[in-house]
Amino acid sequence: MNRGPYIFLGAFALLAFSWTAAILANQLGYGTLTPHYDAMEGKSFPAPQPGIVARGAMVYTDLGCAACHTQQVRRADLGGDLTRGWGERASVARDYLHEKTVQLGHNRIGPDLRNVGARYESPEDFYQLLYAPEQALPGSNMPAYRFLFEESKISGERSKDALDVAVAPGYQVIPTERARSLVAYLSYLEDVYAYPETQYVYPEKEASDDAAAEEEGQ
Ligand code: HEC
Repeated sequence: MNRGPYIFLGAFALLAFSWTAAILANQLGYGTLTPHYDAMEGKSFPAPQPGIVARGAMVYTDLGCAACHTQQVRRADLGGDLTRGWGERASVARDYLHEKTVQLGHNRIGPDLRNVGARYESPEDFYQLLYAPEQALPGSNMPAYRFLFEESKISGERSKDALDVAVAPGYQVIPTERARSLVAYLSYLEDVYAYPETQYVYPEKEASDDAAAEEEGQ
C-alpha cells in the first residue's frame, strides 16, 4: 500500500497546526497592539525610544547581558518579583512595543532589569557598577565591563565626564560612546505607566502587599 499521501497529509497537518498555534494565534492576539494614548497627559505610552536608547539596547544585546538578567516582572501569583522590588506591576506585552529585540532572557543569575532605571538615581551609579561591580555590589559575580571605558592622561583640566574611581595620579577614566548608550538604555528601563490591561487584569500591588504582610507575620 502506498502510504505516501497519508505521511504527507500528516506532516502537513502537523505543520499547519503548529503554525496556527505558534504564529497566527500570537499575531491575532498581539499583532495589533499599539501604544496607549493618554488624553490627560497628552502623550502615548510606552514612550518612544530616543536614538541613544535604541543604540544602548543593541549594546545590551551585543554584550550578552541577557545571559544573566531577565527583563520581565512576573505577576504576584507567579513569584516574588514584586516583593523583591523589581517593579510596581507585572510586565505586559505593550511594555515591549518599541523594543526591536525583546531581551526577556531566561536565566536569573542577577536581578531582573526591567525597572532598573527606577532603582538607580544617576548615570554615574551605572558607570560605577559597570566599571567596578565588586565595589558597587560587594561579593557579586556581576562581571566588570572595563572595556567600555577609556583611561586617558589628564591634559589641562580633568574631564567633567570622568568617573569617580581610583586611577594612577594624572589619569582619568571616561565612558566610551557604547557605555553612554548602554547607560541611557538602562536608565530608560522603567515601566510605571498603568495601562488599562494592567489595572483590571492583574491587581498586583494589593496582592504583593498581602504577600509581604504574610511574610512579615511568619
Ligand atoms: C555572569 C552573569 C552576569 C552578566 C553577564 C551580567 N550581569 Fe549584571 N549582575 C549579575 C549579578 C549576579 C548581579 C547582582 C549582584 C548583587 O546584587 O550582588 C548583577 C547586577 C547588575 C545590576 C544591578 C541591578 C540591581 O537591581 O541593583 C545591573 C544594573 C546590571 N547587573 C547590569 C548588567 C549589564 C548592563 C550587563 C551587560 C553589559 C550585565 N549586567 C551582565 C550578573 C551578571
